[in-house]
Amino acid sequence: MDPSLPGGDAARRYFVRTYGCQMNEHDSERIAGLLEADGMERCESEDDADVIVLNTCCIRENADNRLYGHLGALTHLKRSRPGLQIAVAGCLAQKDRDAIQERAPHVDAVFGTHNVHRAAELLREAREQGPVTEILEELAEFPSALPARRDLAHSAWVAIQIGCDNSCAFCIVPAVRGREVNRRMGDILSEVEALGRDGVTEITLLGQNVNSYGRDLDAGQWRPRFAELLRELDAIEGLRRIRFTSPHPKDLRPETIAAMAECESVCEHLHFPLQSGSDRVLARMHRGYTAERYLDRLASARAAVDDLAVTTDIIVGFPGESDADFEETLRVVMEAGFDSAYTFVYSPRSGTEAAGMVDEFVPPQVIRERMDRLVEVVEGSALSRARARVGEVEEVLVEGASKKDPGVLTGRTRQNKLVHFRADPLPAAGTYGEARITEAAPHFLMGEWLRQTAAPRHRTRIPLAVSSS
Ligand code: 5AD
Ligand code: SF4
Repeated sequence: MDPSLPGGDAARRYFVRTYGCQMNEHDSERIAGLLEADGMERCESEDDADVIVLNTCCIRENADNRLYGHLGALTHLKRSRPGLQIAVAGCLAQKDRDAIQERAPHVDAVFGTHNVHRAAELLREAREQGPVTEILEELAEFPSALPARRDLAHSAWVAIQIGCDNSCAFCIVPAVRGREVNRRMGDILSEVEALGRDGVTEITLLGQNVNSYGRDLDAGQWRPRFAELLRELDAIEGLRRIRFTSPHPKDLRPETIAAMAECESVCEHLHFPLQSGSDRVLARMHRGYTAERYLDRLASARAAVDDLAVTTDIIVGFPGESDADFEETLRVVMEAGFDSAYTFVYSPRSGTEAAGMVDEFVPPQVIRERMDRLVEVVEGSALSRARARVGEVEEVLVEGASKKDPGVLTGRTRQNKLVHFRADPLPAAGTYGEARITEAAPHFLMGEWLRQTAAPRHRTRIPLAVSSS
């Protein structure tokens, strides 16, 4: 873009703040890519920015509160810098629509999950014509096809599917991300090949229910194609690590487990959201499996994939959850032996089925007590799984300097466990190497760097910094 043109964005600086899940990280990278393609430059803080984009999440209530709190805090920045533009994008924008500018009139542009591709144009329109809100009901363009400004040069998110056709009673995602739309396999493979040419060696496939990948690809007949996709990706030269999130336990198929076991690049990590261990609660959530079925599938995965790390999501205090239901959750968690678990307090989201079960809401004090007990069990299991790694030599992909100590590097094992280590000389982000694990904590390992096994393949050195996800 010619900076002399009216409305030209040359030298304007942008800052994107991301709330929520990996799909939002993925979309934020696209928003950043579009703004750069429009001539803007990235900056490292909101104070230096001419354009601030808040890419929002609405999965739990505290995400809403955090956004509106932050918007309030930006009022004075906007007053002191009249040229500053603030945009709100993502799931909360999709949900709250016009209400965002009603609550926060200093917001210049609001766009949702289906029109990420319009980010730069909408900011331009807002500059020329005043505040704008644009929310689409259906996906206009798969955001993966847009230019991206990735945080890590060696690692990329790849969306294979957007939206969700399930109807878990607690979940707002189908309302804000829409029906499940799968991306054509050829497009995914071309994107990953192009990423490989850029030096990306690790990808994470994203979808709300990756096992159902393929559902709408062959007209009129459903053929599950996730296992096939893993095998095709595994054949791509230079790609060393394939991750995916998340499979739905009700749909984890034997052929997916077989592909995980047989494809060298597919990492030994399964994120397997349990939500509850009580059959009664699982049925009321419409999860489509029982605790026994969940544990059976997990056992099949563990039997097939050596050294499999398993992580999960659990909700505490779903409406009507009794003490006995919660005991069931504890029992399943103990039996499953998770490497880690994201534990969430149930949060009513208006418009979802469970939000209407007001009479059965669990008192906050009861939820707190249950949560404390759950966290204790989860931490115990995480620590024992981490301790089992001590003495092992693991492949580590270097991510960058640790946030606390720039002399310490951080990387991830194939099981997706965080490892901190010192090394001399410091290997660059994107390097693969071997480290001996020396110490374990529930959320990280300490290691001793032994040797490099593969140098980074990307050309541009990026600053050593670990992303905040
Ligand atoms: N309340 C609490 N946790 C929720 N999650 C989704 N919706 C809610 C809700 N309303 C959790 C689920 C899901 C994860 C991404 O967020 O555990 O797997
Ligand atoms: Fe939400 Fe359930 Fe769909 Fe996951 S599978 S996005 S929890 S509705």
